[in-house]
Amino acid sequence: MHQPSVLFVCLGNICRSPLAEAAFRQEAQRAGLAVTVDSAGTGNWHVGSAPDPRAIAQASGSGVDISAYRARQVNRADFTRFTHIYALDANNLSDLRKLRPSDATAHLGLLLDEVPGLQGQSVADPYYGGPEDFAQTWGEVTQAARALVARLQAEG
Ligand code: 4NP
Repeated sequence: MHQPSVLFVCLGNICRSPLAEAAFRQEAQRAGLAVTVDSAGTGNWHVGSAPDPRAIAQASGSGVDISAYRARQVNRADFTRFTHIYALDANNLSDLRKLRPSDATAHLGLLLDEVPGLQGQSVADPYYGGPEDFAQTWGEVTQAARALVARLQAEG
């Protein structure tokens, strides 16, 4: 396969998918995997916004600066621009299946399906939670990022 490109998708693109993007960038860099990475939201409320300050703080504490990330909405062209699209929760996956054009080439899946023991589970939305919820999100997306890097290296 040519160089993989991975898009992470949640609802707002200000909490979970920017953290997934950050964790995956960090794990790919550590592993020496060349990959294009981005994130997007199914909704358009936060387009152009920086990540939630609590997400910025969580990533910063884990060694990644995401303050320059800006939210965007997922679109039909993403299904041919990316090789892999991962939904953070089951609702996001359902919305992506509806948006998916007939000429889509990207593999579309649920992020936690990549993590042994967490298959079928959703990354909970921490938006109405506290810092501990963002820490939990970080833990889940980091596990998924490690598994995904291993899978892409194996596919490479
Ligand atoms: P995210 O969290 O999908 O993880 O970025 C949310 C952020 C904002 C909203 C919902 C979820 N919102 O409804 O504004």
